[in-house]
Amino acid sequence: MNADELKRQAALAAIELLPSGGVIGVGTGSTVNHFIDALAAIKGRFEGAVSSSEASTERMKKLGIPVLDLNATGGLEVYVDGADESNRQLHLIKGGGGALTREKIVAAASKQFICIADESKLVDVLGKFPLPVEVIPMARSYVARELTALGGNPVLRERFVTDNGNVILDVHGLEIMEPMKLETQINQIAGVVTVGLFAHRPADVLILGTADGPRTIEP
Ligand code: 5RP
Repeated sequence: MNADELKRQAALAAIELLPSGGVIGVGTGSTVNHFIDALAAIKGRFEGAVSSSEASTERMKKLGIPVLDLNATGGLEVYVDGADESNRQLHLIKGGGGALTREKIVAAASKQFICIADESKLVDVLGKFPLPVEVIPMARSYVARELTALGGNPVLRERFVTDNGNVILDVHGLEIMEPMKLETQINQIAGVVTVGLFAHRPADVLILGTADGPRTIEP
């Protein structure tokens, strides 16, 4: 099975875990696109979705899924999103698609975070995937120096502007032994909007697509 089929398998398994009724938080990326497509088939069973990006909003609207404003819905029961890496504690690196800020907001506002991915995303130590950091444009160079002081090698994501009008620094060369500590340290740098480390609010469940079928991991 190729990676895309494994992503689809994980997405379909997440559909089975959804509560009936209510509003669903929806992430961003190629794995979530499979989830959105499957969600469209059961759209009568829930009120609507809160989206984490313009891309997911557009896809859901095309499929007739009502997209709701988080300010109007209050807290959500469940959020479903992908990841670029997960360790066994379900600390994640996210933001490969650049939607990390809205993803972190919807994850924070949700009681349960179901992460869906193909099996290649499970790692022992986070950091092989460059860590995305969304930054206010005028702070780009300052933040890059601070990230270098923390041991990383930040690289500006070329020709990319986030849905919030900011830039992304992808930080290479990190071996993240203490994800919560690093998340706190990067959050404290002036000019950082969001770091794509989801350690203080990890996933609650990780569903991996594997050659042997979906595998569920809980910390
Ligand atoms: C987007 C994300 C995605 O969840 C992450 O990049 C995984 O993407 P994919 O499902 O395409 O592998 O964080 O900002």
